[in-house]
Amino acid sequence: METAAPDLSVMSDTDASSVYTQNTSILSMAAIDEDAQSDITSMSGDSGVWDVESSTNSVTSSIFNYEEAHGRTYHAFHRGQYLFPNDSSEIARIEVKYHAVRLSINDTIFFAPIEDPQNILDVGTGTGIWCVDVADAYPNATVKGIDLSPIQPSYIPSNCSFEIADAEDEWTFSQPFDLIHTRIMIDFTLKSWPTFFNKAYENLSPGGWVECQEFDFHRQSDDDTIKPDSRVKYWEEQVTVAFNRIGMTGCCNPELTMQQMRNAGFINIECRNFKLPIGPWAKDPRLKEAGTFGLVNLLEGMQGLSAKLFTDVLGWDAEQLDALITECRHELRQKRVHAYYPIYVITGQKAGAV
Ligand SMILES: C[S@@+](CC[C@H](N)C(=O)[O-])C[C@H]1O[C@@H](n2cnc3c(N)ncnc32)[C@H](O)[C@@H]1O
Repeated sequence: METAAPDLSVMSDTDASSVYTQNTSILSMAAIDEDAQSDITSMSGDSGVWDVESSTNSVTSSIFNYEEAHGRTYHAFHRGQYLFPNDSSEIARIEVKYHAVRLSINDTIFFAPIEDPQNILDVGTGTGIWCVDVADAYPNATVKGIDLSPIQPSYIPSNCSFEIADAEDEWTFSQPFDLIHTRIMIDFTLKSWPTFFNKAYENLSPGGWVECQEFDFHRQSDDDTIKPDSRVKYWEEQVTVAFNRIGMTGCCNPELTMQQMRNAGFINIECRNFKLPIGPWAKDPRLKEAGTFGLVNLLEGMQGLSAKLFTDVLGWDAEQLDALITECRHELRQKRVHAYYPIYVITGQKAGAV
């Protein structure tokens, strides 16, 4: 495994008692695709015509009839499958996280060595921002993103499309892909990653690549500034307990992921390691910016990430959770902590000529 990491030397901290200011309006919200239903049709009765209206209504209600819980909304299609919300604040958080990750991986869209990609799939695309960036960068490629939630924008490049689909279902794509991508998905979304890698292998062209841009939500620090009595550390431990209770770990174990790729038949497997700072403490300007996004992601995301895990899975009451989150937010703003998330970009190739 490659171990070289970018320079994350700590910025000099002259006032350790001061705190970061929270920026809640760092990005505008992505629009919800209200037109998503317009191209969905089905045959109705014996009239011999496509009854667009009735099928539109049923598809719309099945996709947009969001579950409401804990003051948030959650996906309607295959309800209950995924534990994090899909409302406007979560959409904003996903976009913030996207920029944080992208900056921390050298502002690179993907690492798989593909010169002229033609057909690309993003599984669990979220707001579809990765697909849009890839479609812009590779105008000859066709880029498809799939997700449980219809939270992708309407104005997208013509070579980009989105589908509401459950990646756990059988894959019935008509053409093989030369890149299948995931970002921030392992091990808290799909139930079986060995199954995912088997499906990815079957749906790639010979010589095609799978690429997983993933992370571990347990923060680390190289200068021991995360203290043993940290409340954020306690929060991370409770998140782990909750995920374990539902048969997941909540984060990517790169060795395990590489082994799962190997078992599925992938070759030339590689893991690139990066660090996503939490807070603008790194000297490097790009990582400093990543750190600002990383901090906002956590400050803004903690409630949504915790709601179902702590109340439904662990049985906490809402007041207990609010109190912990308040403590965590206070701690996260402390400048003296130089924490980061490990980021793993794991790539593997399907054997055969391109
Ligand atoms: C943490 S978000 C990551 C979004 C995006 N990959 C990014 O990095 O910006 C995880 C996404 O996976 C989607 N998801 C979870 N389970 C899924 C499934 N079984 N099939 C399709 N999408 C799924 C969720 O709806 C959510 O949008």
